[in-house]
Amino acid sequence: MTTQGSGLLADKVALITGASSGIGAAAARVFAREGASVLLVARREKQLADLADALQEDGYKARYAVADVARSGEVAEAVRAAVEHFGRLDVAFNNAGYGVEQTPLHLMDDQVYDRIMDTNVRGVWNCLRHEITAMLETGGGAIVNTSSVGGLVATPVAAPYVTSKHAVVGLTRAAAAEYAAQGIRVNAVAPGTTRSEMVTEWFRNNPAVEPTLHRLTPQSRTAEPGEIAEAAAWLCSDRASFATGVILPVDGGFTIL
Ligand SMILES: NC(=O)c1ccc[n+]([C@@H]2O[C@H](COP(=O)([O-])OP(=O)(O)OC[C@H]3O[C@@H](n4cnc5c(N)ncnc54)[C@H](OP(=O)(O)O)[C@@H]3O)[C@@H](O)[C@H]2O)c1
Repeated sequence: MTTQGSGLLADKVALITGASSGIGAAAARVFAREGASVLLVARREKQLADLADALQEDGYKARYAVADVARSGEVAEAVRAAVEHFGRLDVAFNNAGYGVEQTPLHLMDDQVYDRIMDTNVRGVWNCLRHEITAMLETGGGAIVNTSSVGGLVATPVAAPYVTSKHAVVGLTRAAAAEYAAQGIRVNAVAPGTTRSEMVTEWFRNNPAVEPTLHRLTPQSRTAEPGEIAEAAAWLCSDRASFATGVILPVDGGFTIL
């Protein structure tokens, strides 16, 4: 049984980046369950196609577009695909991101810095510009970007990632201030450690990391991707109608210590 037509995001058209795994894939399921038609975006086509098929089999409206968020033209095409398939764009979750390299700043490769900034900052920049353009045509919408606890506090040996996620906070606030009067809310989630693809690999290669992070987290555990997706769904929904420019930590208390 589907809940399309009812729920937190009833009848919304949503675009989700980074939907091929982790938090974005969980968001695809949560947003669809809450009534949204979802356009899934990432670079790996097979994962997107499999997830879109699974959602369609469950009776939800789901399509996908392959795009590298660092490329403006590809993001423009993805936004166009959402409008073509579903008629407009109401909601976007700009969640694609990258970066778990743990290297001291002075030893970090310039190429790592470039890749992280291109994906995490230019990616959100590209998404905001094309999504806002589409939303202005239909009188408004709601956008949630994925920052990180690394966008609120510094975590060691991850300078490019921390820099990029602080930039996402800046972009979120700037866009929120600029488009509030035109009916577009822009917020961000700041996840703590979450059991996604990139983190699972990181834990596998560095077994001491997970227990250390648990010690630094009042709730003493790693989040499941769906827990971040739930917060994003609420911020995207009309139930968060007076929330804009908010950076919402979903971190088991990591940033309160
Ligand atoms: N997991 C955590 O502990 C944690 C904590 C704080 C913040 N975050 C943030 O949460 C977001 C989601 O990450 P995740 O934890 O769910 O990890 P994940 O499972 O590795 O997912 C990352 C997603 O981003 C997509 N992506 C990466 N580069 C892209 C690009 N250039 N263009 C389009 N899509 C791209 C990947 O898809 P393709 O490879 O198919 O393109 C994938 O779908 C990221 O912004 C990450 O920084 C995660």
